[in-house]
Amino acid sequence: MTIRFFISRDAASLAVGADAIAKALQQAADTKGLAIEIIRTGSRGLFWLEPMIEVETPQGRIAYGPLAPENVAELLTDGLMNGEPHPLCLGRPEAIPYLAKQQRLTFARCGIVDPRSLEDYLAHGGYRGLARALDLGPAAMIEEVVESGLRGRGGAGFPTGIKWRTVAQTKPGQKYIVCNADEGDSGTFSDRMIMEGDPFVLIEGMTIAGIAVGATKGYIYIRSEYPHAVHAMEAAIEAARRADYLGSNVAGSEWAFDIEVRVGAGAYVCGEETALLESLEGKRGLVRAKPPLPAHVGLFGCPTVINNVMSLATVPFILAQGAKTYQDYGMGRSRGTMPIQLAGNVKHGGLVEIAFGVTLGELVEGFGGGTRSGRPVRAVQVGGPLGAYFPVDLFDTPFDYEAFAARDGLIGHGGIVVFDDTVDMLKQARFAMEFCAHESCGKCTPCRIGSTRGAETLDKIAHGMEAEHNLALVKDLCETMKFGSLCALGGFTPYPVMSALTHFQDDFTPVRHAAE
Ligand SMILES: Cc1cc2nc3c(=O)[nH]c(=O)nc-3n(C[C@H](O)[C@H](O)[C@H](O)COP(=O)(O)O)c2cc1C
Ligand code: SF4
Repeated sequence: MTIRFFISRDAASLAVGADAIAKALQQAADTKGLAIEIIRTGSRGLFWLEPMIEVETPQGRIAYGPLAPENVAELLTDGLMNGEPHPLCLGRPEAIPYLAKQQRLTFARCGIVDPRSLEDYLAHGGYRGLARALDLGPAAMIEEVVESGLRGRGGAGFPTGIKWRTVAQTKPGQKYIVCNADEGDSGTFSDRMIMEGDPFVLIEGMTIAGIAVGATKGYIYIRSEYPHAVHAMEAAIEAARRADYLGSNVAGSEWAFDIEVRVGAGAYVCGEETALLESLEGKRGLVRAKPPLPAHVGLFGCPTVINNVMSLATVPFILAQGAKTYQDYGMGRSRGTMPIQLAGNVKHGGLVEIAFGVTLGELVEGFGGGTRSGRPVRAVQVGGPLGAYFPVDLFDTPFDYEAFAARDGLIGHGGIVVFDDTVDMLKQARFAMEFCAHESCGKCTPCRIGSTRGAETLDKIAHGMEAEHNLALVKDLCETMKFGSLCALGGFTPYPVMSALTHFQDDFTPVRHAAE
């Protein structure tokens, strides 16, 4: 009997040697004359346990990890084929507390299915959302998404259904669905993981969006740093086309929809929706003034839905299970689940999809297990390079758009970067200004010039030059950038700077820096 093994092909797993494990397993099995099949999946998102092997047994899959190639032959001798106990055995992956405590709705299939197999996707409930959507018709599909409470996962948290309704209400004609897969925020990887691990769910979500608003064409704008995701998406689009899930009669219906992948060129600002549209049109990534909104005048001047990967990949669940099921998760106006990414100096880095309302402390200490260095946590930055730094005192903050805003922070795309007590928060504040200066599109003065002056002024504080005066200057500059910038790059850079100043004042005193 052929025994099936599952090894992740996710870029993070490849980075720690998953290919070498797959090769060692095949070689060891050949040597021993064992019949095996290795299926390359996405990752479960338990990165500290990668590279991991899962073996299919009558009791379900049993996981082993983290593995080195030299462990594999010995494991095969020690009962790997039957999922027998071993010091490297992790048991059933679903029972590992990190996974068992999660509520995986968007990521339900990631790490389980073969991302290259449409049949596997269908066998695991794929395209049920589209089937129900086609029964409902466009207007009811949109109302379902509105009712679910889904808010954009790219950062701004705008209600997805309302955006779709706006585009649907524009006059008939060429319209587009644009999927924002630029994923530039520090410490984030959920978009990449789903594109590599369950690409059909994104195709299904975009197809539903297209039919809902009357768009026949979709683009996925993927950052160039994600070659594996580009490859996975292109292969899946091709497979969906061959099976008529894309094309002139989607799933045998009257609706036409197709998708193309476009690769970015490495500018953070091209994740901003209007700069992204410029880039898609082949121009330099300059931010456009709003209004008009992309929903009215978007790609090539046509009404356009632009949504993050996570927003679109969540739509099939909502349509398949109903808005109410999704709505039942979460707190306040933050409905459903959020794929949260733990990164930086953290012991258990990975993906945690969980209902809104979980506290920052539970995420960092509970799931993350504290720092990898073993030193105390001092700060976490939530929401990417434009997000605020939170001290441990604020770890009771629930993961919720409004609760974070009330504490001058943002949840953004759900990235959490952990720092231990060796972090210098003045340097982090300076880095925020430097990052903004580097990535600014240059269109408006507070961002283009303010960020450079901000970095210089923070340098003066670090060198003990007129610290009080220069601190006042930085605060004043932050106000100008916050209220005078055209987009959130300049407008939100003050968040990391001001949060560092507010919560970690000691790092801004000349004494500390003079002593170093
Ligand atoms: C500087 C900057 C960078 C951004 N980068 C991204 C990004 O990489 N991915 C993303 O989905 N949204 C990003 N956004 C947010 C987008 O402008 C936009 O709000 C989002 O794509 C809308 O999709 P959603 O409603 O599904 O979140 C960025 C915004 C700014 C200001
Ligand atoms: S805030 Fe910065 S990135 Fe945004 S439009 Fe102005 S210059 Fe460009």
